Amino acid sequence: MRRLLLLLCSAVSCSVAARGAEVTLPAAGDGSAERVPAQKAKVKFGLRSSPHAGEDGCALAVGQQQCLEDCKFNVTAKTFFIIHGWTMSGMFETWLDSLVSALQEREKDANVVVVDWLSLAHQLYTDAVNNTQIVGKTIARLLDWLQEDPLFKLENVHLIGYSLGAHVAGFAGNHVHGTIGRITGLDPAGPMFEGVDPSRRLSPDDANFVDVLHTYTRETLGVSIGIQMPVGHLDIYPNGGDFQPGCGLSDVLGAIAYGTIGEVVKCEHERSVHLFVDSLVNQDKQSFAFQCTDSSRFKKGICLSCRKNRCNGIGYNARRIRHKRNSKMYLKTRADMPFKVYHYQMKMHVFSYKGLGEVDPTFSVTLHGTNGDSEPLSLEMLDLIGLNATNTFLVYTEEDMGELLKIKLTWEGTSQSWYDLWKELKSYWYRPVNATQELHIRRIRVKSGETQQRFAFCVEDSQLTSISPGKELWFVKCTEEWQKRSVSNLL
Ligand SMILES: *[C@@H]1O[C@H](CO)[C@@H](O)[C@H](O)[C@H]1NC(C)=O
Ligand SMILES: *[C@@H]1O[C@H](CO)[C@@H](O)[C@H](O)[C@H]1NC(C)=O
Ligand SMILES: *[C@@H]1O[C@H](CO)[C@@H](O)[C@H](O)[C@H]1NC(C)=O
Ligand SMILES: *[C@@H]1O[C@H](CO)[C@@H](O)[C@H](O)[C@H]1NC(C)=O
Repeated sequence: MRRLLLLLCSAVSCSVAARGAEVTLPAAGDGSAERVPAQKAKVKFGLRSSPHAGEDGCALAVGQQQCLEDCKFNVTAKTFFIIHGWTMSGMFETWLDSLVSALQEREKDANVVVVDWLSLAHQLYTDAVNNTQIVGKTIARLLDWLQEDPLFKLENVHLIGYSLGAHVAGFAGNHVHGTIGRITGLDPAGPMFEGVDPSRRLSPDDANFVDVLHTYTRETLGVSIGIQMPVGHLDIYPNGGDFQPGCGLSDVLGAIAYGTIGEVVKCEHERSVHLFVDSLVNQDKQSFAFQCTDSSRFKKGICLSCRKNRCNGIGYNARRIRHKRNSKMYLKTRADMPFKVYHYQMKMHVFSYKGLGEVDPTFSVTLHGTNGDSEPLSLEMLDLIGLNATNTFLVYTEEDMGELLKIKLTWEGTSQSWYDLWKELKSYWYRPVNATQELHIRRIRVKSGETQQRFAFCVEDSQLTSISPGKELWFVKCTEEWQKRSVSNLL
């Protein structure tokens, strides 16, 4: 057997991963190696030594020590394995090269290995799912062979799997002897994995640290492309994990009608990869995610705490937190790179002296900071506004405003939408329009997610606290006296 493999090595050039070469795969039964004809099963490992070292890279295979040397595999360095997902084209997608070069740029010494299981992935989805287990085992066998060199450490191994590839990574981690350092799941596939036993999908047991980015978990006809359940130690749901800005899903029906639904799906699913690439290359613009029990609480701005490891970097910058499993984290992002935004929690006590009953205001805030002014940012109302109560909102800016100096609160005037018109009409008939809708706000408390700093802003003119439709109120940093008073109010 050994001689056969050596023969194979001399026959196959290491500099280019020969297409169609025979590979060894674990036999179904006893785990010993068995030669499998190339047409039946192909898993190839291409080491991408330099950013432009040919499309296929330098081929690695179990037992081929010489190839390892020829390929300049650095046994003491970090080793990344990039694992693609199900494919309709049968070819590598364009994100692959950007991920390879981003890894090479960030970790200069690292070995970046592309796992090519295209022929097994270019199948009916159900068959490709069935192949994930065997591809995972093949990766595990390569890792076991690499571990024969005591300098090679499994803890330096980081598997990065996209879609179905995330579960392949899980199987690799499950079957290898020892524990892999890290697995990153980039929007792990949902169909046939949602809700199944941890041994049959990516799970926290598969590596020392399993972090996951969920970007396309919205259900269509009962299934979601990306898995909804948390499957790692750290599960990050950018923009709630169900709608990615810039992916044009505001018009799903239109997309279906024009046959562009595939692009929309790809945009949201693949966003996980681009967020990861962003985390590698834009180190000066690192995004942070915040732990929260669910997306709607996050949208209300309730969860912007960093205490007790409740916030973390995302993508490559995520840190392992001991004793945490299935910790769900959220953040907002921009529509393209760099994805970072600046999150703020706004708390305001809304007084209603006139007992108007139901009010449904549309508020926006404009932030004025040392670095400039924001656009008007609308305050998302998930419920009716709480009267004589403290309301919490989440707002975020694409630019860093610097230190906040002033806040303008606007009650948007009569809206143009048909829905609002209908509401007005309805209230005209059932409840006479009362022109004196009026609320009072004296103070806005702001907390920055990124800096964790808190500030209190008070109405500029303490005699004028009322706001009504079409009107605005200005808030400035509270004076010492105000701060003291607000503290005594809290006590
Ligand atoms: C191999 O990787 C180690 C650890 O990153 C590094 O110190 C060393 O310089 C690398 N060796 C070569 C030949 O690049
Ligand atoms: C999975 O593949 C194996 C052969 O590799 C086959 O025997 C089995 O029936 C397949 N299972 C499913 C569910 O398709
Ligand atoms: C809010 O409190 C004031 C008295 O402080 C009261 O007159 C008013 O009716 C209350 N409004 C609501 C909606 O409960
Ligand atoms: C509007 O509200 C005020 C104060 O609550 C009340 O005095 C007035 O009668 C109301 N107007 C109408 C048209 O209901």
